[in-house]
Amino acid sequence: MFYITTAIDYTNGAPHIGHAYEKVLADVLARWHRMCGEEVYLLTGVDQHGQKVQQKAEAAGVSPEQYANDVMQKFIALWERLGIAYDGWAATSDPRHVRCVQQILTNLKDRGCLYKKAYKGFYSVRQEQFLTDKERGEDGSFGPEWGEVIELEEENWYFNLSAHVAWLREYVSTHPEVVTPEFRRQNLLNAIERAEGVDLCISRPKERLAWGIPLPFDPEFVTYVWFDALVNYISFAGYLSEGDASLPDFNRLWPAACEVIGKDILVPAHGVYWLCMLHAMGFADAEMPRLLVHGWLNIRGEKMSKSLGNIVDPNDLCDVFGAEALRYYLVRDTKTGYDSDYDAERLKMIYNTELANDLGNLCNRSLNMCKSYLGSVVSRGEGDDALSAALRAHLSETEKKFATCMDAYNTADALGALNEHVKQCNAYIEQTQPFRMAKEEGKLPELQRVLFHLLESCAHVAYLLGCVLPEASARMLEQLQVSTEGLTPAGLHWGLLTEGQAVQAPTPVFPRIMSEEEKAKAAERAAKAAAKAARKAAQQG
Ligand code: ME8
Ligand code: MG
Repeated sequence: MFYITTAIDYTNGAPHIGHAYEKVLADVLARWHRMCGEEVYLLTGVDQHGQKVQQKAEAAGVSPEQYANDVMQKFIALWERLGIAYDGWAATSDPRHVRCVQQILTNLKDRGCLYKKAYKGFYSVRQEQFLTDKERGEDGSFGPEWGEVIELEEENWYFNLSAHVAWLREYVSTHPEVVTPEFRRQNLLNAIERAEGVDLCISRPKERLAWGIPLPFDPEFVTYVWFDALVNYISFAGYLSEGDASLPDFNRLWPAACEVIGKDILVPAHGVYWLCMLHAMGFADAEMPRLLVHGWLNIRGEKMSKSLGNIVDPNDLCDVFGAEALRYYLVRDTKTGYDSDYDAERLKMIYNTELANDLGNLCNRSLNMCKSYLGSVVSRGEGDDALSAALRAHLSETEKKFATCMDAYNTADALGALNEHVKQCNAYIEQTQPFRMAKEEGKLPELQRVLFHLLESCAHVAYLLGCVLPEASARMLEQLQVSTEGLTPAGLHWGLLTEGQAVQAPTPVFPRIMSEEEKAKAAERAAKAAAKAARKAAQQG
């Protein structure tokens, strides 16, 4: 079982390109493992509770629940558009999740992991939060952004995080697989070294924050939003669900093979709180989830933010470029684990070169030649030659590289390898010149062999692309009349196309993305060509 989860997105604003990147990455990995014949469960969803949602709801004059559910619809609609094929939906106001969080809190309290304590400190009335020395400016005072700052004493519930830190340090240092990529594990280890003996405050008094899960043993308090949110990975996997048939069987899913999160929420949330929470609940080392930490998408080197007004809405990109072009760009142009810059010009350039030009042209040309020269009937032809043998060897190397990269979450190089093979096929056309063979006597078996190599390569590439471009892949395979039912990447073999089978005439799967100016020029060219053809026809007639 490959249980894969993503961070759950805050419902305090609309989805942006960073959210989309994470979900597409997770979906691509999930589809890859499904293709490989594994049983896969992909969980994603939304993080609905907390201060920010409560504040936004108040400003909008609706209940927090209403607000969170309205925003949730935007995420659901976007994932639908982007083809995110999730198996479970984690919304933290779901009563099944609420029940699970409360049961965990009760268990932890029974185990002596929770205690109540008074805390006195500086509190920002405007931001409704306690301030620490980190929030002090250079002159030692709290800046104007905090508004009125008062001294406040407040009782709260604490989780004895510090009692688990020694275990955590040992666990993370001896289990390199816990965090991918490795340099992010080093970030976590450094953070654990610096971790002082501080426990985690896991409650908020109801008068300050009402929109949260009530503590089952102290109803004047709600649960701190991170403690609630992290539990989604197990609550929606069926933990403590007592055979609730609407949830999966926990023992089959857990531990998560891959929790996909951004770099900002590794420390302390996932790398410290989450692993320690699980340890406190009694999960053994072998029952710890693995974290896949991706970088951030920035805009021209800058963080996306409301104040800079540079937030990119993935819906706009779907409108202009289409969902699959966006999916391809996101996992092709970002090296998993590292930051990258989102750039619409690059999206267009990569799509136009790798998909429209390289792959699109290869499929169109190959199918067109097959139609013109062979009546759309495929045959292996006879004999062999060095160029064809080299192309087959290259394809089989490509497939190995693709699999190795995908297994290592390296989508960028996996797709790069496929593109290399496509370019190799285009070079093979130039080298073998099937259009010449078509004009020569006695070249039919050779021509058939060359076109078979091209179409067979197209079929393999189209099949593997299925995890990134499900729709385009299906359309290409349809044109090639290849069924991949029951096929796995490891079972890929030469001969997806069968002797004597028909293929369809091509209809372009990756039309070029053009600017308005380019469209106008193309229309002008087409009009000129049509006029010329008409003149010629008139002359001949
Ligand atoms: O952190 N580029 O929610 P969130 C790439 N609710 N990824 C980005 C990004 C960017 N510019 N901005 C955000 C939360 N992300 C919590 C998670 S999990 C139990 C609770 C990623 O909506 C971010 O790193 O702020 C995180 O993984 C996800 O989007 C949700 O971010
Ligand atoms: Mg965030």
